[in-house]
Amino acid sequence: MLHSRSRRGDRRRKRRMPVPHSGRIPGSRRSDREITVEIDDQEEAERARSSFPIVRFLNRLGPKERFLTFAVFFALLITVFSIYYERSVAENDVAADRNNEAQVALGGSLYRANCAFCHGDALEGKTGWNKDYPVGGRPALPLNGDGAISRLSDQDIFEVVKFGGQPFSPSGYKNDMPGFEMQLSDADMWAIVAHMKSIWPEAVIESQSAMMEKRDN
Ligand code: HEC
Repeated sequence: MLHSRSRRGDRRRKRRMPVPHSGRIPGSRRSDREITVEIDDQEEAERARSSFPIVRFLNRLGPKERFLTFAVFFALLITVFSIYYERSVAENDVAADRNNEAQVALGGSLYRANCAFCHGDALEGKTGWNKDYPVGGRPALPLNGDGAISRLSDQDIFEVVKFGGQPFSPSGYKNDMPGFEMQLSDADMWAIVAHMKSIWPEAVIESQSAMMEKRDN
Protein backbone atom coordinates (compact mmCIF):
# COMPACT_ATOMS: atom_id res chain seq x y z
CA MET A 1 0.00 0.00 0.00
CA LEU A 2 1.24 3.49 -0.77
CA HIS A 3 0.32 6.05 1.81
CA SER A 4 2.03 9.17 0.50
CA ARG A 5 -0.31 12.09 0.35
CA SER A 6 -0.22 14.07 -2.80
CA ARG A 7 0.44 17.79 -2.64
CA ARG A 8 -1.68 18.23 -5.68
CA GLY A 9 -4.52 16.59 -3.84
CA ASP A 10 -7.36 15.84 -6.13
CA ARG A 11 -5.33 15.97 -9.30
CA ARG A 12 -3.96 12.60 -8.33
CA ARG A 13 -6.21 9.68 -8.19
CA LYS A 14 -5.70 6.24 -6.90
CA ARG A 15 -6.13 3.30 -9.10
CA ARG A 16 -6.73 -0.02 -7.45
CA MET A 17 -5.20 -2.95 -9.22
CA PRO A 18 -5.92 -6.51 -8.30
CA VAL A 19 -2.86 -8.67 -7.77
CA PRO A 20 -3.02 -11.40 -10.37
CA HIS A 21 -4.16 -14.59 -8.76
CA SER A 22 -1.72 -17.34 -8.32
CA GLY A 23 -1.86 -20.29 -6.06
CA ARG A 24 1.00 -19.00 -3.98
CA ILE A 25 -0.57 -15.75 -2.80
CA PRO A 26 -2.67 -16.51 0.24
CA GLY A 27 -4.68 -13.28 0.42
CA SER A 28 -7.63 -14.05 2.55
CA ARG A 29 -8.40 -10.37 3.08
CA ARG A 30 -9.16 -8.12 0.15
CA SER A 31 -6.40 -5.62 1.02
CA ASP A 32 -3.79 -8.37 0.75
CA ARG A 33 -4.77 -8.97 -2.80
CA GLU A 34 -4.57 -5.33 -3.93
CA ILE A 35 -1.84 -2.82 -4.55
CA THR A 36 -2.52 0.87 -4.97
CA VAL A 37 -0.68 2.84 -7.61
CA GLU A 38 -0.79 6.61 -7.65
CA ILE A 39 -1.01 8.07 -11.08
CA ASP A 40 -0.45 11.73 -11.65
CA ASP A 41 -2.70 12.38 -14.59
CA GLN A 42 -1.81 16.02 -14.93
CA GLU A 43 1.92 15.44 -15.11
CA GLU A 44 1.52 12.54 -17.47
CA ALA A 45 -0.57 14.66 -19.77
CA GLU A 46 1.89 17.57 -19.66
CA ARG A 47 4.72 15.29 -20.67
CA ALA A 48 2.86 13.74 -23.52
CA ARG A 49 1.70 17.09 -24.83
CA SER A 50 5.02 18.70 -25.64
CA SER A 51 5.78 18.33 -29.32
CA PHE A 52 9.47 19.25 -28.97
CA PRO A 53 11.55 16.08 -28.66
CA ILE A 54 14.13 17.99 -26.59
CA VAL A 55 11.46 19.03 -24.06
CA ARG A 56 10.13 15.49 -23.90
CA PHE A 57 13.70 14.30 -23.34
CA LEU A 58 14.32 16.82 -20.54
CA ASN A 59 11.01 15.98 -18.88
CA ARG A 60 12.03 12.38 -18.64
CA LEU A 61 15.22 13.25 -16.68
CA GLY A 62 15.48 13.63 -12.94
CA PRO A 63 16.57 17.01 -11.47
CA LYS A 64 20.20 15.94 -11.12
CA GLU A 65 20.42 14.62 -14.65
CA ARG A 66 18.70 17.72 -15.94
CA PHE A 67 21.26 19.93 -14.18
CA LEU A 68 24.13 17.91 -15.63
CA THR A 69 22.66 18.09 -19.12
CA PHE A 70 22.45 21.87 -18.88
CA ALA A 71 25.95 22.12 -17.41
CA VAL A 72 27.46 20.09 -20.25
CA PHE A 73 25.51 22.08 -22.79
CA PHE A 74 26.69 25.43 -21.43
CA ALA A 75 30.29 24.28 -21.11
CA LEU A 76 30.20 23.29 -24.76
CA LEU A 77 28.64 26.58 -25.75
CA ILE A 78 31.28 28.56 -23.85
CA THR A 79 34.14 26.58 -25.41
CA VAL A 80 32.81 26.99 -28.94
CA PHE A 81 32.12 30.66 -28.39
CA SER A 82 35.50 31.44 -26.81
CA ILE A 83 37.42 29.70 -29.62
CA TYR A 84 35.32 31.56 -32.17
CA TYR A 85 35.89 34.88 -30.40
CA GLU A 86 39.61 34.40 -29.86
CA ARG A 87 39.99 33.36 -33.49
CA SER A 88 38.31 36.49 -34.74
CA VAL A 89 40.75 38.55 -32.67
CA ALA A 90 43.90 36.68 -33.68
CA GLU A 91 43.09 35.60 -37.23
CA ASN A 92 45.73 37.69 -38.98
CA ASP A 93 48.71 36.88 -36.80
CA VAL A 94 51.60 35.29 -38.67
CA ALA A 95 54.12 35.24 -35.86
CA ALA A 96 54.08 34.10 -32.26
CA ASP A 97 54.01 36.82 -29.61
CA ARG A 98 54.09 35.47 -26.07
CA ASN A 99 52.92 38.87 -24.75
CA ASN A 100 49.85 39.02 -26.97
CA GLU A 101 47.10 37.96 -24.60
CA ALA A 102 44.46 37.26 -27.23
CA GLN A 103 46.85 35.14 -29.28
CA VAL A 104 48.08 33.24 -26.22
CA ALA A 105 44.48 32.59 -25.10
CA LEU A 106 43.52 31.25 -28.51
CA GLY A 107 46.64 29.09 -28.53
CA GLY A 108 45.70 27.71 -25.11
CA SER A 109 42.22 26.66 -26.24
CA LEU A 110 43.54 25.11 -29.44
CA TYR A 111 46.35 23.38 -27.57
CA ARG A 112 43.91 21.73 -25.17
CA ALA A 113 41.72 20.60 -28.05
CA ASN A 114 44.48 19.30 -30.35
CA CYS A 115 47.72 18.63 -28.53
CA ALA A 116 47.14 18.02 -24.80
CA PHE A 117 46.11 14.44 -25.48
CA CYS A 118 49.69 13.55 -26.42
CA HIS A 119 51.81 16.38 -24.98
CA GLY A 120 50.00 16.66 -21.62
CA ASP A 121 47.75 19.31 -20.05
CA ALA A 122 50.74 21.28 -18.76
CA LEU A 123 52.80 20.73 -21.97
CA GLU A 124 54.98 18.39 -19.92
CA GLY A 125 55.25 15.64 -22.55
CA LYS A 126 54.55 11.93 -22.12
CA THR A 127 56.33 10.12 -19.30
CA GLY A 128 59.52 8.59 -20.61
CA TRP A 129 59.88 11.27 -23.29
CA ASN A 130 63.64 11.29 -22.93
CA LYS A 131 63.85 7.68 -24.06
CA ASP A 132 63.19 6.09 -27.44
CA TYR A 133 60.64 3.36 -27.95
CA PRO A 134 62.29 0.04 -28.69
CA VAL A 135 60.15 -0.20 -31.85
CA GLY A 136 61.33 3.20 -33.12
CA GLY A 137 60.04 6.69 -32.54
CA ARG A 138 59.63 8.22 -29.09
CA PRO A 139 56.88 9.51 -26.79
CA ALA A 140 55.51 13.04 -27.24
CA LEU A 141 58.18 15.57 -26.20
CA PRO A 142 57.61 18.30 -23.62
CA LEU A 143 56.70 21.71 -25.08
CA ASN A 144 57.03 23.63 -21.81
CA GLY A 145 60.72 24.43 -22.24
CA ASP A 146 62.11 21.20 -20.76
CA GLY A 147 64.16 19.12 -23.13
CA ALA A 148 65.75 20.64 -26.20
CA ILE A 149 62.88 22.63 -27.72
CA SER A 150 64.94 25.86 -27.68
CA ARG A 151 67.15 24.51 -30.47
CA LEU A 152 64.14 25.14 -32.76
CA SER A 153 63.17 28.59 -34.06
CA ASP A 154 59.52 29.69 -33.94
CA GLN A 155 59.39 28.97 -37.68
CA ASP A 156 60.79 25.44 -37.12
CA ILE A 157 58.16 24.72 -34.46
CA PHE A 158 55.43 26.12 -36.68
CA GLU A 159 56.53 23.82 -39.51
CA VAL A 160 56.70 20.72 -37.31
CA VAL A 161 53.14 21.46 -36.17
CA LYS A 162 51.95 22.13 -39.72
CA PHE A 163 53.65 19.28 -41.58
CA GLY A 164 54.30 16.80 -38.78
CA GLY A 165 57.65 15.50 -37.60
CA GLN A 166 58.30 13.00 -40.38
CA PRO A 167 59.60 15.42 -43.06
CA PHE A 168 62.23 16.66 -40.59
CA SER A 169 63.40 13.23 -39.48
CA PRO A 170 66.24 11.11 -40.78
CA SER A 171 65.13 8.50 -43.28
CA GLY A 172 64.15 5.25 -41.61
CA TYR A 173 63.08 7.00 -38.40
CA LYS A 174 59.40 6.77 -37.52
CA ASN A 175 58.22 10.12 -36.15
CA ASP A 176 54.80 10.01 -34.46
CA MET A 177 54.16 13.77 -34.45
CA PRO A 178 51.15 14.28 -36.78
CA GLY A 179 50.79 17.34 -39.06
CA PHE A 180 47.90 19.75 -38.51
CA GLU A 181 47.82 21.34 -41.96
CA MET A 182 44.28 20.04 -42.57
CA GLN A 183 42.84 20.89 -39.14
CA LEU A 184 44.29 24.29 -38.24
CA SER A 185 44.91 27.58 -40.02
CA ASP A 186 48.36 29.16 -39.99
CA ALA A 187 47.11 31.76 -37.49
CA ASP A 188 45.88 28.92 -35.25
CA MET A 189 49.29 27.29 -35.29
CA TRP A 190 51.11 30.57 -34.60
CA ALA A 191 48.76 31.04 -31.66
CA ILE A 192 49.75 27.62 -30.30
CA VAL A 193 53.44 28.54 -30.63
CA ALA A 194 52.69 31.78 -28.74
CA HIS A 195 50.93 29.77 -26.03
CA MET A 196 53.90 27.40 -25.73
CA LYS A 197 56.34 30.27 -25.45
CA SER A 198 54.16 32.09 -22.92
CA ILE A 199 54.94 29.37 -20.39
CA TRP A 200 58.63 28.90 -21.21
CA PRO A 201 60.93 30.14 -18.45
CA GLU A 202 62.90 33.28 -19.34
CA ALA A 203 66.11 31.21 -19.59
CA VAL A 204 64.65 29.07 -22.37
CA ILE A 205 63.50 32.15 -24.31
CA GLU A 206 67.03 33.54 -24.03
CA SER A 207 68.66 30.31 -25.07
CA GLN A 208 66.38 30.18 -28.12
CA SER A 209 67.34 33.74 -29.15
CA ALA A 210 71.01 32.93 -28.64
CA MET A 211 70.62 29.84 -30.81
CA MET A 212 68.94 31.86 -33.57
CA GLU A 213 71.65 34.52 -33.49
CA LYS A 214 74.31 31.86 -33.86
CA ARG A 215 72.42 30.41 -36.81
CA ASP A 216 72.21 33.76 -38.56
CA ASN A 217 75.97 34.30 -38.37
C1 HEC B 1 49.30 11.68 -31.58
C2 HEC B 1 50.08 12.33 -30.57
C3 HEC B 1 50.48 13.77 -30.82
C4 HEC B 1 49.67 14.87 -31.01
C5 HEC B 1 48.15 14.90 -31.04
C6 HEC B 1 50.55 15.99 -31.11
N1 HEC B 1 51.84 15.60 -31.03
FE1 HEC B 1 53.46 16.81 -31.12
N2 HEC B 1 54.68 15.18 -31.01
C7 HEC B 1 54.26 13.89 -30.81
C8 HEC B 1 55.41 13.03 -30.72
C9 HEC B 1 55.37 11.52 -30.51
C10 HEC B 1 56.55 13.84 -30.89
C11 HEC B 1 58.01 13.41 -30.87
C12 HEC B 1 58.37 12.98 -32.26
C13 HEC B 1 59.79 12.48 -32.34
O1 HEC B 1 60.68 13.29 -32.08
O2 HEC B 1 59.95 11.32 -32.65
C14 HEC B 1 56.04 15.20 -31.05
C15 HEC B 1 56.85 16.30 -31.27
C16 HEC B 1 56.41 17.59 -31.34
C17 HEC B 1 57.25 18.75 -31.50
C18 HEC B 1 58.77 18.75 -31.69
C19 HEC B 1 59.42 18.93 -30.36
C20 HEC B 1 60.92 18.87 -30.45
O3 HEC B 1 61.54 19.27 -29.44
O4 HEC B 1 61.45 18.38 -31.44
C21 HEC B 1 56.44 19.84 -31.46
C22 HEC B 1 56.88 21.30 -31.58
C23 HEC B 1 55.09 19.37 -31.28
N3 HEC B 1 55.10 18.01 -31.21
C24 HEC B 1 53.99 20.18 -31.15
C25 HEC B 1 52.69 19.72 -31.16
C26 HEC B 1 51.54 20.58 -31.17
C27 HEC B 1 51.60 22.09 -31.11
C28 HEC B 1 50.45 19.77 -31.25
C29 HEC B 1 48.98 20.18 -31.35
C30 HEC B 1 48.64 21.06 -32.46
C31 HEC B 1 50.92 18.40 -31.24
N4 HEC B 1 52.28 18.41 -31.19
C32 HEC B 1 50.09 17.29 -31.27
C33 HEC B 1 52.96 13.46 -30.70
C34 HEC B 1 51.85 14.26 -30.85
